[in-house]
Amino acid sequence: MNIGICGLGTVACGVISVWQRNQSLLTSRAGQNSVITHIGARRDNPACDTHAYTVSRDIFAVVNDPSVDVVVELIGGIEPARQLVMEAIAAGKHVVTANKALIAEHGDEILAAAALADVEVRFEAAVAGGIPVIKALTEGLSGNAIESIVGIINGTGNYILTEMREKNRSFEDALADAQRLGYAEADPTYDVEGIDAAQKLTILAALAYGTPLDASRCYTEGISAVSVADMTYANELGYCIKHLGIARATKQGLEMRVHPALIPKSRLIANVNGVLNAVAIHGDAVGPTLFCGAGAGAEPTASAVIADIVDISRKMACGSKVSSDVSAAPSEPQASVQAALHRVVPITDIHCAYYLRIAAANRPGVLSQITQVLSDADISVEGVRQHEHTVGAHTHTNEPVPIVLTTNVTLESNFRAAVAQIEMLDTVLQPVSIIRIESVD
Ligand SMILES: NC(=O)c1ccc[n+]([C@@H]2O[C@H](COP(=O)([O-])OP(=O)(O)OC[C@H]3O[C@@H](n4cnc5c(N)ncnc54)[C@H](OP(=O)(O)O)[C@@H]3O)[C@@H](O)[C@H]2O)c1
Repeated sequence: MNIGICGLGTVACGVISVWQRNQSLLTSRAGQNSVITHIGARRDNPACDTHAYTVSRDIFAVVNDPSVDVVVELIGGIEPARQLVMEAIAAGKHVVTANKALIAEHGDEILAAAALADVEVRFEAAVAGGIPVIKALTEGLSGNAIESIVGIINGTGNYILTEMREKNRSFEDALADAQRLGYAEADPTYDVEGIDAAQKLTILAALAYGTPLDASRCYTEGISAVSVADMTYANELGYCIKHLGIARATKQGLEMRVHPALIPKSRLIANVNGVLNAVAIHGDAVGPTLFCGAGAGAEPTASAVIADIVDISRKMACGSKVSSDVSAAPSEPQASVQAALHRVVPITDIHCAYYLRIAAANRPGVLSQITQVLSDADISVEGVRQHEHTVGAHTHTNEPVPIVLTTNVTLESNFRAAVAQIEMLDTVLQPVSIIRIESVD
């Protein structure tokens, strides 16, 4: 099997060097002699030895090479990646890609074309880098109805939140550090605003629930509003703040949301720190599972790309075909829930517990005013922190004092209405900070 690679950046160089290092191992696992033959790259990359391959400056030369069986798209972005992949499929070639944006935005079109052309399109590296979570969902857990997927699926965001919690650094300071270390792009919007995580969650939800590949259906909140104060109070209350992607089957439909969340410190996923990724999948038969590892980087991502190439090679060698149609993924949910799953539950209709941080006037009776508003909305308070040292320190000043509350589970629209009333109290001096609380298995 002849492999053509388009792009010669971080991941492509990882693929080439792991392939060169493990060549004999891969050939025996691939069931046939599989070799990289053609690279499409606008320029050389000093990190990569390509002398043994044909190198074309036009990436489309790889697609047009009749001897190439598998096109590995590693250029990223939407265009010309979409055109490249569609032309490869039309030419009867299998495709492997690490491009989450492409699959989350155009996956349905690409997979439909692949099914018609009877070729494979694989994208393990597009979600959680080196963690084989797509294989886990579609193969290892194929006997299960998937009840929920909860993931830390953006390493940059996890690094920033970890630095804030462990070193009391501000969001801006931790972000600057992530950029200096090469974890974050010069424009970090996709990572910190949750767009990247929403694209990955969309792919996982499509595999688990057969939903369309359309990232705009996912509710998305970033981490830029999370403060060191929230980290500290959450910690005192026994929680850790993580940026989560959550897909959950409910009777009302499918919840699909990306936002910061408090999770109990005792949970395994709460202890996944730095740039690591983790995906907790709850299946009805297996119960809770957790997959953890490197979500990015040249060789971890190459590990996933190569697994897809080897898989295709093995299938070709024994003449069989595995559907790349995600809606045919075997993890069908229970019939009662399935009908509702094509409806994405609006964020205002979810049920959740909440953390609130309120900047209040340093006056007696403020806490009871706030709890009265919550009680009138049928929301009970689970925990309260009114910082006595802070209150004491500000006894004779007009500076706000922080009141931190956690609630029981309630309807989000009900909670939002109560928060709007709390913000109208003349003793509440700033907009209330709210973060959802998730009890991950
Ligand atoms: N890096 C990771 O850890 C990671 C993890 C998971 C998934 N991914 C995904 O893997 C893919 C590749 O990422 P990467 O980090 O390897 O990117 P990268 O280092 O920026 O490399 C991209 C490569 O593609 C080439 N390229 C880009 N646009 C092109 C065009 N229009 N025509 C020809 N060549 C073009 C670039 O060439 P020039 O150098 O000439 O610009 C470069 O060789 C992306 O889809 C990314 O989301 C990356």
